[in-house]
Amino acid sequence: MIRKYRIGNPIPTDSVIEDIPVSQDGIPYFNVDEEAKELSLFLEKEDKIFGLGETVRGMNKRGWLYTSNNTDDPNHTENKHSLYASQNFFVVLSKKRKFGVYVDTPGKVSFDIGYTSLDKLAVVFEDFDADIYIVTGEGVLDIVTGFRKIIGRSYIPPRWAFGFGQSRWSYMTADEVREVADKYEEAGIPLNMIYLDIDYMERYKDFTVDESSFPEFPKFVEEMKTRGIHLVPIIDAGVKIEEGYDVYEEGVKRGFFVKKDNGENLVAAVWPGRVHFPDFLNDEARAWFGDKYKVLTDQGIDGFWNDMNEPAIFYTEDHLGEVFEQIEDFKGKNLDIDSFFAFKELVGSIDNNPEDYKRFYHEYKGRKIRHDKVHNIFGYNMTRAAGEAFERISPDKRILMFSRSSYIGMHRYAGVWHGDNQSWWSHLLLNIQQLPALNMCGFLYTGADIGGFGSDTTEDLVLRWTAFGIFTPLFRNHSALGTRRQELYGFENIPSFRNIVRLRYALIPYLYSEFMKAAMGSRMLFKPLCFEYGDDRSSQVEDQLLLGESIMLAPIYTQNAEGRYVYLPEDMKLVRFRAYDDYDEEIMNAGDHYVRAGLDEILVYVRKGHALPLAEPGQGLEEVTASQLKYICYEAEPKSYELYSDDGISRL
Ligand code: NOJ
Repeated sequence: MIRKYRIGNPIPTDSVIEDIPVSQDGIPYFNVDEEAKELSLFLEKEDKIFGLGETVRGMNKRGWLYTSNNTDDPNHTENKHSLYASQNFFVVLSKKRKFGVYVDTPGKVSFDIGYTSLDKLAVVFEDFDADIYIVTGEGVLDIVTGFRKIIGRSYIPPRWAFGFGQSRWSYMTADEVREVADKYEEAGIPLNMIYLDIDYMERYKDFTVDESSFPEFPKFVEEMKTRGIHLVPIIDAGVKIEEGYDVYEEGVKRGFFVKKDNGENLVAAVWPGRVHFPDFLNDEARAWFGDKYKVLTDQGIDGFWNDMNEPAIFYTEDHLGEVFEQIEDFKGKNLDIDSFFAFKELVGSIDNNPEDYKRFYHEYKGRKIRHDKVHNIFGYNMTRAAGEAFERISPDKRILMFSRSSYIGMHRYAGVWHGDNQSWWSHLLLNIQQLPALNMCGFLYTGADIGGFGSDTTEDLVLRWTAFGIFTPLFRNHSALGTRRQELYGFENIPSFRNIVRLRYALIPYLYSEFMKAAMGSRMLFKPLCFEYGDDRSSQVEDQLLLGESIMLAPIYTQNAEGRYVYLPEDMKLVRFRAYDDYDEEIMNAGDHYVRAGLDEILVYVRKGHALPLAEPGQGLEEVTASQLKYICYEAEPKSYELYSDDGISRL
């Protein structure tokens, strides 16, 4: 059951699509303190808190302060409070009580979950205006499904988007892209997507292609498609200010860019230097920007990633001017302890400055609203622009789309990637831990930059991360400018990489079926063990996942580990893959075990009463019928498995 309560006068977010009347009763469970702008709840010792989507720290969110304030921060360390997304749904779970809470507000809100006081959960608002949904149900999975039903069905990508993708900031020319495709082919490692980062554009202008480095682009797109590779270009939130650039000129003429209080268009800067931001919250501007994707779909492109849409701001012209002026005061002076730090703070205040988010306004639902009040739904609306437009541009076929910034509601239009992680083992663990929380909030098509985006990677990290990444719907290796290259063919252990990636293709019938069942049934794809098993030990496990109905994963996420402790909540069959057609099976009893896993092995635990279908990777992305599959089951007698199949491309 779901009940809706209202505090103040909230700005709508369009995240909930079901019409639920506002209850006049008091909000259950919570104590409301208007003065402190806070809802609070006493936490009992056994209460665990799950959810909040893409945040730092573990699966049980107890013990930290999470602030929904979409931020471009590439250092996802545990001292951070905000990442790129605001996904304000969580569940309080213990044997005694279970309920879900959705805090729907487009502005800044914090979740103090046993941070200030160990036994208190407080939702602390900047503006005390929000719709609060309280979701109850039989168990945690019912609660999640109940919530997911009111926010609408999750985005479904084309099936080819379950293939493997290679990315780099940036492949600079068409020939460089061809070389990547050639080397994957030579290495015998399947590949279905190559991502184009910002340098494919002409001077970083959205919806342009640099003619000199990517000549005859439509022909090139077609050439790659005949090799089974989709090119997936990036689109950024900022539109370059440049005379003669149609997107800029039209946007100015039609008044579609965000404006300052004095009515002038805000001048900010991102990759292209000076930009204007489209007002994605304005219906007309959103439709206009969305239609621009057609420039690329007309050239054969059928997938995109939306970036820098928190929005990331390198500087605003206004604030930069202030900084230059104030710097004058420091010139020629002895910078002592106070003035040195003041100087440092001044210079460091240039990018992503919260004050800049107060300098501009949106035309949203007939009202002029200052950006900071709706900051967390900006990226959502950029991606919604694309999603809504794709229904017009490509009414029959699905288009691949995922975004960096998000808010609940965006899950209907796109997936997300987990942003700029680092080539750290701890970020492989973070990847594992964020998945169920994202699923709770409706985001099913997700994946992290495999191998890590920032910092130099190592071959063993890429091996272990790829061995986990084969299970995530978005399966993409991406890395930053200036870091060590991490295309799989560049490492020594090519046969291991080949076996791992080919296993992904063998698993696609299972992964696609489970994904589709989760999307259609508003269910989770990745679950913490305690969402299915009621024993106390399961609720302590923070580094294993159930994936779909049949399997459990216990990935290795530490360097030099030759194995790890694994908890089995029931008897399971361990399948030790060296390749899709080379594996051992072993029945294991419920309980704790130390399980060895070599760098070239992928371990899967098959649950009792369920089956894991496996295809011949040759069949890869094409549809496979049940009769072409082999099944691995715990039991000697094969169990039945409901395979989902469709043409993989028609809209549903
Ligand atoms: C930031 C994105 O998060 C990253 O993936 C991308 O490579 C860079 N922007 C450059 O476009």
